[in-house]
This record gives sequence, structure tokens and C-alpha cells, in this order.
Amino acid sequence: MVGALYRWQFPVMKSRVLITLPLPTTVLEALKQQFELQVWDEGPMPTAQIAQWAKTTDAILCSLGTPISADLIRSNPQLSTISSISVGVDHIDMAAATAASLPVGHTPDVLVDSTADLALALMLAATRRVVEADRFVRGGHWSADWATDFFLGTDLSRATVGIVGLGPTGLAVVKRVRAFGADVIGWNRTEREVLGVRNVALDDLFAEADIVSVHTAAAPETHHLVSADRLALMKPGAVIINTARGSVVDESALIKTLSEGKIRAGLDVYEEEPLAKNSPLLAMDNVVLMPHLGSATAATRQAMMERALANLVAGLSGKPLPWCANPVVYTGP
Ligand code: GLV
Repeated sequence: MVGALYRWQFPVMKSRVLITLPLPTTVLEALKQQFELQVWDEGPMPTAQIAQWAKTTDAILCSLGTPISADLIRSNPQLSTISSISVGVDHIDMAAATAASLPVGHTPDVLVDSTADLALALMLAATRRVVEADRFVRGGHWSADWATDFFLGTDLSRATVGIVGLGPTGLAVVKRVRAFGADVIGWNRTEREVLGVRNVALDDLFAEADIVSVHTAAAPETHHLVSADRLALMKPGAVIINTARGSVVDESALIKTLSEGKIRAGLDVYEEEPLAKNSPLLAMDNVVLMPHLGSATAATRQAMMERALANLVAGLSGKPLPWCANPVVYTGP
């Protein structure tokens, strides 16, 4: 009775959540039952706007497009949780979050297969020139008869595929390309033995592979890992696929190599996203471009949102996040 009276006199404040991207109405309605929401759904949220809204929030629910800087973290000690609807957390200053004991939630595992499927889609599209041929037909250029040298590509079953990064997505790609009959070579930052994969030095991987597929996370040590020198090692006609992070590839060097016509590429990620409207990549026939869609299936996005919401609710209840990206020492009840 006393408790009930107490609650009546001092209604329990709902925690405040800043949501930096549009979310399905059903998700927002469910969140509104528990939290007070501030939702930004007008495209990329400007940094000044995040800084302003962050002052009056307890948690941030965001994704890759929202940079969360050290400054934002340090100036908002009231923040109890950041939950990102993504596996990667390179848009968040993790050192600052960890120093502030601010837990950052992410969504591992559930997007592995979708991302590996997209890597395969890009491999096949690039090696068999699917997009280029589609443009050719739609452009009304298909007038010659069947010919033995018409739009020739290369076979996955005859290819050596080099996997850069043997984490969960790299391994899911290994499984898929082996099913196509490819030989697989691999490289990982800390050497990892994988059945059916021959470990090689990174430079040798670039020199030997017909297809290089990048699956390593963005980190200071992987920045521009795919450098001008490594691109120069690639065989004529070889293909590079990137479904990991743009920062892993030196994009200017890639553009230069692609413009020489020596290699092909399939890209889902870029150093700057969205890709600049004047990027030279847009005019190239030897590259297939996707707008960061690795995890873009309905089922995977649903699973990612479920993980992100579970992280958010746990953080705001003072509990450990089920999928925490930083090694925060939990000190709550
Ligand atoms: C996608 O790139 C992710 O990090 O979830």
C-alpha cells in the first residue's frame, strides 16, 4: 500500500531513448510503451543534431550511419547504453565508450549468412559480368549472333579464392565457394587453421587468387590493408570483392587499378557512404556496386533489430547487454 502510494505521488519516469534512424511502426509502438522516444527519421542525422538531442537522452539506438564520437560520449555522462543495429561498431568511439564504462550493444552472428550470400552474388556478378551484360541488353546493343568470344567471364569452379579474414563471415564464404568447387586460400590476422583452406601470406594471397574476398573488420591495423602494392600483385582478370568495410581497401588505389582495366570488383562498402555522386566508380563497367546491403534480408534485419532491442532494454534496466561489443566491467546490481 505504502509502495503504491509512493508510486502514485512520484510517477516512475520512463527512460529516454534517442533513435537516429527510421524504424518500423510496430517496433516504435512497442518501444513507446516502455520509453520516451526522440526519433530522427529524416535521413542521415546531422552531428550537431545528435549532440543536441543526446543531452536529453539515457540511451541511443542507432546504426552504421550515426557516428558516435568520443566528445559526444564524454559530454553525456547520463548515457547508460548505446545499442547499434549492426555487427560493426567502427562508427562508435569504442575506446571512449569503454573508458566511460558505457556499454555498446551490437548484433553479431545473425547477419553472417546474408553477408556471405551477398559476397557470392557479387563474385558471380563480377566473374560472369551479369550487370554489364544486363546493361548491354537493356541498352539495345544485342544485335550480333551467338559467338564464341561474346562476354567471356571466368568460372568459380576453376578459381582460386583468397579469403582475407577467417572470422564467421569469411568461414561462411569458404563453405559456399568450396561447394562451387573452388580452391581456397586464406589469411587471418591471427593465423587460424580451417579445413579446406590453405593459409598463405597476405601478399601471396593477392598474387595467387583469381578472386579475393575481404571479410576482415575495420580496425586501425586493417586500414588500407588492400593497398596499391597489394592490388598491383593481382593477376590480370582477377576480381576483388568487399562486403566488409570500405576503410579496409585504399579506394583511390582501387579506382586507379580498375581504370587500367586489369581487374574487376564487386563492392558493397566504401570509404565514404553513401558513395559520392561523382565517384569514378560509377562510370566503370568492370565493377558491380551495391549500397551496403550485406545484411539486407527481411529475416536478418528482423533478427538484428531483436538483438538491438534486447541490448537496449537490458542496458536501460542496468543489466549486462546480451551482445556487448566492449569489454565493460559490469558494476551494476
Ligand atoms: C553491417 O555492415 C554491419 O556491421 O551490421
